[in-house]
Amino acid sequence: MHYVLYNRYRNCLYFHTIRRVFKIKMTWRKAIIFLIIVALFSGFVFLYTCGNDSCSPNAILPAVVSDISQITDSFNAYKDGRLPYNNFNDTVFVESHPVNFDKEDVIVFLHIQKTGGTSFGRHLVKNLELESPCKCHRRKKRCDCYTSKKTIWLFSRYSTGWVCGLHADWTELNSCVEEAMNKKEKKIRKRRYHYITVLRDPVKRFLSEWKHVQRGATWKTAKLVCNGHSAVGNEVPLCFNGTDWSDVTLDEFLSCKHNLAKNRQTRMLADLAKVNCYNTSSMTPEDRDQKILDSAKENLLNMDFFGLTEFQLRTQKLFEYTFDIHFKKEFEQLPVTHSDRTDISKRQKSEILEQNKLDIALYQYAKDLFLQRTKKMREKTGDTFVERDYDLLETKDQFDDSVDFADDEDDDS
Ligand SMILES: *[C@@H]1O[C@H](CO)[C@@H](O)[C@H](O)[C@H]1NC(C)=O
Ligand SMILES: *[C@@H]1O[C@H](CO)[C@@H](O)[C@H](O)[C@H]1NC(C)=O
Ligand SMILES: *[C@@H]1O[C@H](CO)[C@@H](O)[C@H](O)[C@H]1NC(C)=O
Repeated sequence: MHYVLYNRYRNCLYFHTIRRVFKIKMTWRKAIIFLIIVALFSGFVFLYTCGNDSCSPNAILPAVVSDISQITDSFNAYKDGRLPYNNFNDTVFVESHPVNFDKEDVIVFLHIQKTGGTSFGRHLVKNLELESPCKCHRRKKRCDCYTSKKTIWLFSRYSTGWVCGLHADWTELNSCVEEAMNKKEKKIRKRRYHYITVLRDPVKRFLSEWKHVQRGATWKTAKLVCNGHSAVGNEVPLCFNGTDWSDVTLDEFLSCKHNLAKNRQTRMLADLAKVNCYNTSSMTPEDRDQKILDSAKENLLNMDFFGLTEFQLRTQKLFEYTFDIHFKKEFEQLPVTHSDRTDISKRQKSEILEQNKLDIALYQYAKDLFLQRTKKMREKTGDTFVERDYDLLETKDQFDDSVDFADDEDDDS
């Protein structure tokens, strides 16, 4: 009896408080109607959010929240120099699986502009310890990379040349490499492709590309093939009139909407067929961004190997471990030139970050995966090589002068 009374008393108190707060004349009946309306509304929101997809009440909120915050979170992690952001489970740590070039193995190097890929490409043709290494000739840009069976084992700029287009991206390579190899070898055979690439800090890469374009590079002969055809003119209009964009300022470079430098790494690693290629009118920009980023991550994860420019030695060791091939000479940290020092304002800084959000999220993902992979590798091999690489953990103050490699890339075919 006391208990019931106490409860009634408490309910009454609660009720009086509501009345006081809303300053309305409320009766018990009105309160109940109010609660029913709230319940109905919640149910409606629930159904609306779920759409036709099956989803449990628990799944709704986290799904929506993580979609919104995935890019933003990585972005913030990058800006804070936080590490690691993504934790990977054991299934994605590459095991060493020796390649046999005399049989079916072929390495395909996806070379993204201004990532230091030129140096890496040279290591592949000149620095590998193989039974049939590439034969390079003086005054010739390309080397012959044949096995003892006269098959090609390396698909790259310095071996096959740009046969799938200048700086061909994942989408182009995926639809072109097999046919191109058949043509080059003049035969159809079974091949096992090992895609590899090198990524670089997105801000430095962007600045480096700007400098390169400023000096006259255009890459305008890139075909941008997807779903069987090149991007049409109005899908990716050139940012400049005339032959090139030399002397472009950073602000001009940033303000061109169709500048392919923006989020280049993400775009070049994604399967663009998944987003209707270069046609942006079939989905919202947010949808497209998320799909491109997810696809780039997936393709990166499925590559047998990727390196990071900032970690030359680890890149070398991980390559050696992954394919069980060795380099003759150790990789040196790439020399950077300091001659092109530019003062970048705070506003420009945040604009570069803002306009490369996808690359920043991708790089955070790649960096976490790479560092966790090399850690695992060291545990397995017991290799205690001395780290001479940049300290990349500190990314806050990256707007320094060191955006250009001394060893510059010339990008004609
Ligand atoms: C490990 O990660 C992969 C790729 O992200 C995922 O598909 C798989 O389900 C994960 N496995 C476990 C046991 O968490
Ligand atoms: C190129 O020139 C035309 C005509 O002067 C102009 O309308 C257009 O905006 C220019 N395009 C660029 C990218 O500067
Ligand atoms: C882009 O896609 C939309 C819708 O899918 C289509 O209507 C339009 O014709 C396409 N644009 C081009 C240039 O192909």
